[in-house]
Amino acid sequence: MGERLYVGIDLGTYQSTIASSAGEMKTIETVVGRPKDPVARNMLGRDVLFGNDALRNKLACNLYRPMAAGVAQDDEENLAAAKAFVTHLIETVGPEEYDEVFGVICSPSHVSFTDKSNLVATLRGQVNAIMVVTEPFATAYGIGEIMGSICVDIGAGTTDIARLYGIFPTEEDQLTIQEAGDWIDLQLMELVQKKYTGAQVTKDMVRKWKEEFSYVSGDDREQMVELSVDGKKQVVDIGDLIKSACSMIIGKVGSAVKSIVASADPEYQPILRNNIILSGGGSLIEGIAEAVANDIADIGDVTVTCVEDPIEKVATGAMALAQDMPDEQYTAIN
Ligand SMILES: Nc1ncnc2c1ncn2[C@@H]1O[C@H](COP(=O)(O)OP(=O)(O)OP(=O)(O)O)[C@@H](O)[C@H]1O
Ligand SMILES: [Mg+2]
Repeated sequence: MGERLYVGIDLGTYQSTIASSAGEMKTIETVVGRPKDPVARNMLGRDVLFGNDALRNKLACNLYRPMAAGVAQDDEENLAAAKAFVTHLIETVGPEEYDEVFGVICSPSHVSFTDKSNLVATLRGQVNAIMVVTEPFATAYGIGEIMGSICVDIGAGTTDIARLYGIFPTEEDQLTIQEAGDWIDLQLMELVQKKYTGAQVTKDMVRKWKEEFSYVSGDDREQMVELSVDGKKQVVDIGDLIKSACSMIIGKVGSAVKSIVASADPEYQPILRNNIILSGGGSLIEGIAEAVANDIADIGDVTVTCVEDPIEKVATGAMALAQDMPDEQYTAIN
């Protein structure tokens, strides 16, 4: 048998990461651009652009976010964009030097749970065999916490929660809620428009403000940002609004965690309650672990922590799983 490369792939709504057994790691925003017309094609000198490259040239391109919630999974252009994106992502870790590639894939829950066949079509020709797992499971595996924990992945499109007790989590062990990073961005956008009538803000603007200043507790902080109100430049304070928008997710996550605890084996509940792990980009909100712990304090003693380097944890966990699993756990796809 020739040499095999293992990869862990975190296909995210907002950004995607690949980690390889050769030690490579790469994160790219999950966006694909195609030149809008022949002028754009000539100027750009390429047929397809990915991540930041696509975003920098967004006015000259049709942009696709193939993993975003609400994107029709059978839409031909999005499927093609997804395939081009995944091919590009895998090429960044140099698969051509190996005889075969085995991959563990995490995809947004709306993709992996409703139609895995599209995922297989997207990966065919790029990897020889795949195994699909959920984000919280991959993360928990990677950090050695599958023996008794609740892992909460707060992504962009969804928050995925899994109860872990030493086996592959079943459907009953997992829960997905729609409130995650994108939802916070929408709340913040509404709050800004309410406080500053006529404010012109985009989703990208509010996301950047949130990422820079996010927090959920303590006194309101002043946070001045520049925006246009009816075309006129203004510098306004949105510090209080950022706290409000970020805080709105706490109760949603808290309720979901409570229901995952409540439906677990009662003898196991104390262990689960005392090992609640937050991951995903949303876990970078300052103070979130403490706020979630306070929110669920009525169910007894709880311990809530955040993983380090949450953006990469899904992919590194998936890669560790890829290396550890026997071949019969994989599905051959070529
Ligand atoms: N410092 C921060 N504070 C608050 N939110 C943040 C911060 N950094 C990143 N985020 C948010 O985290 C989200 C991205 O996280 P992540 O990469 O885990 O999502 P994803 O994997 O693309 O999405 P999904 O898992 O839902 O498919 C975005 O909504 C982003 O704005
Ligand atoms: Mg994710």
